[in-house]
Amino acid sequence: MSEVKNYKEALQHSIFNTIAQAAANLEVDCYVIGGFVRDYILQRGSAKDIDIVAVGSGIELAKEVSRLLPNNPKVQVFKTYGTAMLKTNDIEVEFVGARKESYAENSRNPVVENGTLQDDQNRRDFTINALAISLSNENFGDLLDPFGGIDDLRSKIIRTPLDPDVTYSDDPLRMMRAIRFATQLNFKIETKSLDAIAKNKDRIKIITRERIVDELHKILLSEQPSVGFKLLEKTELLPYILPELIALKGIDEIEGQRHKDNFYHTLEVVDNISENTNDLWLRWAALLHDIGKAPTKKFSKKVGWTFHGHEFVGSKMVYKLFKRLKMPLNDKMKFVQKMVLMSSRPIVIASDVTDSAVRRLVFDAGDYIEELMTLCEADITTKNPKKFKKYHHNFKIVRQKMVEVEERDHIRNFQPPVTGEEIMETFSIKPSREIGIIKEAIKEAILEGDIPNEHDAAYEFMIQKGKELGLTINS
Ligand code: CTP
Repeated sequence: MSEVKNYKEALQHSIFNTIAQAAANLEVDCYVIGGFVRDYILQRGSAKDIDIVAVGSGIELAKEVSRLLPNNPKVQVFKTYGTAMLKTNDIEVEFVGARKESYAENSRNPVVENGTLQDDQNRRDFTINALAISLSNENFGDLLDPFGGIDDLRSKIIRTPLDPDVTYSDDPLRMMRAIRFATQLNFKIETKSLDAIAKNKDRIKIITRERIVDELHKILLSEQPSVGFKLLEKTELLPYILPELIALKGIDEIEGQRHKDNFYHTLEVVDNISENTNDLWLRWAALLHDIGKAPTKKFSKKVGWTFHGHEFVGSKMVYKLFKRLKMPLNDKMKFVQKMVLMSSRPIVIASDVTDSAVRRLVFDAGDYIEELMTLCEADITTKNPKKFKKYHHNFKIVRQKMVEVEERDHIRNFQPPVTGEEIMETFSIKPSREIGIIKEAIKEAILEGDIPNEHDAAYEFMIQKGKELGLTINS
């Protein structure tokens, strides 16, 4: 038998001594297990969540720990699951009794029996998440690693403790977790496991959308999200989750004319943007910026492949997609829609940057102009170095012009320089459509650069416009 490794140094937080004391008082063995141990060994920073498994009642252990802590924190008990949780200072500790489980075919809810530590480790998702460190007095700090989790951490492998078919079928969310961990940690999923995911893919249907979205967010927030989306595609889970992306896959060719593969292009854009922003919703915008291309794709002999209006169609699809996945239909969704809708605007103006086009861009993007530029820069995926340089250079010019125009015209957060009241007063009129016409004309004149964004110039323009409409000035 190989020597047992001791990881006492992982247990420096005083909470571990308290838990050990509580376990000794109750005469039960207990272990810290899962993410805490994994992340300690990977040196991923100190974890805020600690999972404790007791060979006995997790709930009783939690209560005893609370009794020993100076401020006796509240113990939250989840009876159905036989778990309990308490928060102390900056950390959250979850307690569970060691279990032996089997799952019903159509549900994530397990049939639970008490078990040994080994039983409990058997039913965990991955070898790297089944590592346990003892908190019992006689072997405090000893590592229990029955499945070679340490070796898997070293060789960067995601592997299940049991036959992967059993592990994934028991809890299909684990299929997404495998892909998420592979993306976050830059690990490989072993082939047997990948095959089992592909085989069990249909069972993802029993997982709630909230939990799926949780994993999607974690994939999207990884350093290189494309890793996860390629795995979701390879295992054929993606059509269940984001069919809109799968619809972008493939290259058609007619009469020698081809378009790019918009699925892989999209993934490149997501990776690019992830180098420049950690904003989850901007990353979502990158992921969805081209989804309108599938339904709008057309071929004509004259112009080849086109995707007319894909930005508009795509922004409408964002709403449906968010709704289907039970994501918030709030300002975050509206932000993603706006980014998708405007995603081609800076590219269109970049080849011929005029003041008025920049003013319009800043006006329409409002507070999100920076995010929009970040998205458009990430959208440059050409492999032609000359073009790559040229496009980036053009965007630099757009950005410079944005600063100039903003200094001069203050278009961002545009406020009409002449108010509706002033128009009504000047022409002695009541609220009417003429006011809207005049205000719109003033805005247009400013955006076009016909008049500066200043009161006096706008006032003069208003008089002229009013006259054209047959209004007379109040003398
Ligand atoms: N676990 C599992 N199957 C799941 C979810 C969790 O076996 N579907 C087990 C794993 O041992 C995992 C532990 O429960 O390590 C804690 O789960 P959780 O807090 O969700 O994940 P962590 O591994 O702690 O990782 P992260 O915090 O990054 O999600």
